[in-house]
Amino acid sequence: KRPLRVLGIETSCDDTSAAIVTSDRQILSEVVRGQQEMHEPMGGIVPTLASKGHSRNLPGVISETLELAGLTIQDLDAIAVTRGPGLPPCLPVGLNAGKVLAAVAKKPLIGVHHMEAHALTARLTTKNELNQPAPAFPFMTLLISGGHTLLLTANDIGDYDQLGTTLDNAVGEAIDKTARLLQLDWLKGRRGGPGAALEKAALTGDPERFMPRLPKPMLERNTSVISFSFSGLKSAVARLVEIENLVDLNNPQDVSDMAAAFQLTCIQHIEQKIKLALNQEVVKNKKPLTALVVSGGVASNTLFRTRLETLAGSYNLPLICPPPQLCTDNGVMIAWAGLERFQAGLVDDYTITTLPKWPL
Ligand code: KG4
Ligand code: ZN
Repeated sequence: KRPLRVLGIETSCDDTSAAIVTSDRQILSEVVRGQQEMHEPMGGIVPTLASKGHSRNLPGVISETLELAGLTIQDLDAIAVTRGPGLPPCLPVGLNAGKVLAAVAKKPLIGVHHMEAHALTARLTTKNELNQPAPAFPFMTLLISGGHTLLLTANDIGDYDQLGTTLDNAVGEAIDKTARLLQLDWLKGRRGGPGAALEKAALTGDPERFMPRLPKPMLERNTSVISFSFSGLKSAVARLVEIENLVDLNNPQDVSDMAAAFQLTCIQHIEQKIKLALNQEVVKNKKPLTALVVSGGVASNTLFRTRLETLAGSYNLPLICPPPQLCTDNGVMIAWAGLERFQAGLVDDYTITTLPKWPL
């Protein structure tokens, strides 16, 4: 019997993407059409514009994905599509396309939770000796992206314990705003966007210079609560730059030093909360955790990865990060999550609707 093939469609934010993956963990094809150029002059993603972009691009993206794999709709075993969470005008573009394709071709339809897909990507990309999906359940996952900051334990497909989330900005959102404030050129950052530009600037910076001037999020109070907060930190940087004029934006060293201080404060905050969560989970879970998985766009950051690897190692856990191109939004993760759900018997009706706000 041949391996199962699932098409995944993703239109929850500004990237239009589709991919076909198989149950033996091959990516047969993958197409991503970004919209960075369109949103950059607006200073951020404009949902109605993004929706139009998806409408324009999705038919071509799907047909190209099939062509690259040398397949037709009939050769697929199921169609998976992001149902939420995401931008309200964008989600229906992908969902409607997926539903119509599935209904016409009489294929099973699988609505996928965008964050579950981020969490499960590691089981596609990480090989183990038995060539089984790895890591095994339960594992802890940190999802850090432009829209989410979410720490959870994945107990099984569709079974997650949310341990903590952000009280205000997502870490990627704070990073993006700070990168813009520091006038870092986000097209230079290419697919990683402003975050990659900030990481690059921070490479040549000395974090110690401005660290003493930045607040440590949630350290004074609430030290035992697993919640994240980044807006205070973001505003503190803005104050130092715009009001106190501590940073000369024309001086690359000033900019690099502030980028480095901001970045290090962010990761120290994240580390502190993961430690709390790991301490709790190690006590609570009957089955021991198998790994710390970090995914989402911000997981592309090398400093974050290195430090989290050290942290996980101190709990005897491997750190698993999907490759950077699969940490940003993509159709592959939707196809893979759909495949895992399909194999677990979790199929949806053709009448499902989008869920822009959808708790995990
Ligand atoms: O997962 P993702 O592509 O989209 C969302 O679902 O949000 O994440 C995008 C976020 C953006 O905030 C971007 O600036 C950030 O990931 N990012 C980075 C890096 N590459 C991307 N942040 C820090 N360092 C990076 N190297
Ligand atoms: Zn995402």
